[in-house]
Amino acid sequence: QSASDSSNTSKTMSDVKWEFPRENLILEETLGEGEFGRVMKAQAWNITRQQEYVTVAVKMLKGNGTHAEEMDLFSEFNMLKEVCHPNVIRLLGACTQKGGPLYIIVEYADLGSLRCFLRKTRRLEVSYTCQVGNPTYFVDGGDISRQQFRSIPWAELLSFAWQIANGMSYLSNMKLIHRDLATRNVLLASGKVVKISDFGLSRDVYEGETYLKRSKGRVPVKWMAIESLEDNLYTFKSDVWSFGVVLWEIATLGATPYPGVTPERLFQLLKAGYRMEKPNACSDELYSVMLMCWRENPHDRPSFKVLVTKLDQMLLQTM
Ligand code: ADE
Repeated sequence: QSASDSSNTSKTMSDVKWEFPRENLILEETLGEGEFGRVMKAQAWNITRQQEYVTVAVKMLKGNGTHAEEMDLFSEFNMLKEVCHPNVIRLLGACTQKGGPLYIIVEYADLGSLRCFLRKTRRLEVSYTCQVGNPTYFVDGGDISRQQFRSIPWAELLSFAWQIANGMSYLSNMKLIHRDLATRNVLLASGKVVKISDFGLSRDVYEGETYLKRSKGRVPVKWMAIESLEDNLYTFKSDVWSFGVVLWEIATLGATPYPGVTPERLFQLLKAGYRMEKPNACSDELYSVMLMCWRENPHDRPSFKVLVTKLDQMLLQTM
């Protein structure tokens, strides 16, 4: 019995507890789109049993989705049923009945993806002022007052990192491996609360701590751990590697990792010991955490629990 078989669809095709009537859903605009999937904003009537419309996000397949993609969406549904944490996107319901496409309904995160949010805070060039222990990001776009207006405090960036580590720590306690942790898959809800999302690739592990992916699917190479690239090996510690890349994305306000490096060359570079440099305006301390996450031997990388503690300490220093 393999890990992925445990999230088989048969037992869950008609999950009464989560079933939501299609006719109570008014689909609005598209929020995001991948090759096979689409997320739409929608209004859901009475989903809270309070006789009101609530804004939600609905995940569905596009027309060209194959059976395998449908299985992935079902597997995401099954994962979401098991989880409940403030930093993980919350399942609200699903439309699974025949006579229409599969819809997964999750809470709406009104500030969008963390990647877009970070990129919106920059204009032209990123600079920083370095107060002791508390560098402040600001965008160098001209006069001082405008720079101040557009600043994003270092503590806020650390808070994003802390919240992601906190959500990931919960997921690893739940024996869930995400496998696609990246700022594009992290959402921000009001109050800048981080919501880890996009469980399409995630797998639960019942045997040991390792999930071995059998066939080569589409893979987010620049976020992948060295052992995932080499042997298709996914563990909690490969999620930790991806978290290191997420820290780098946060510190660069949403840059794309390994600029100029082709996916084909990346593995050789990593194998030769190359790692990304410290971003401008990143503290030495945060960069040292990135390097820990990118240690070649997975056992040498910190756990998410340890990462939460380290980020806690860094946050305390900003107060
Ligand atoms: N884009 C993808 N999923 C989303 C969600 N749940 N809320 C807002 N935007 C999204």
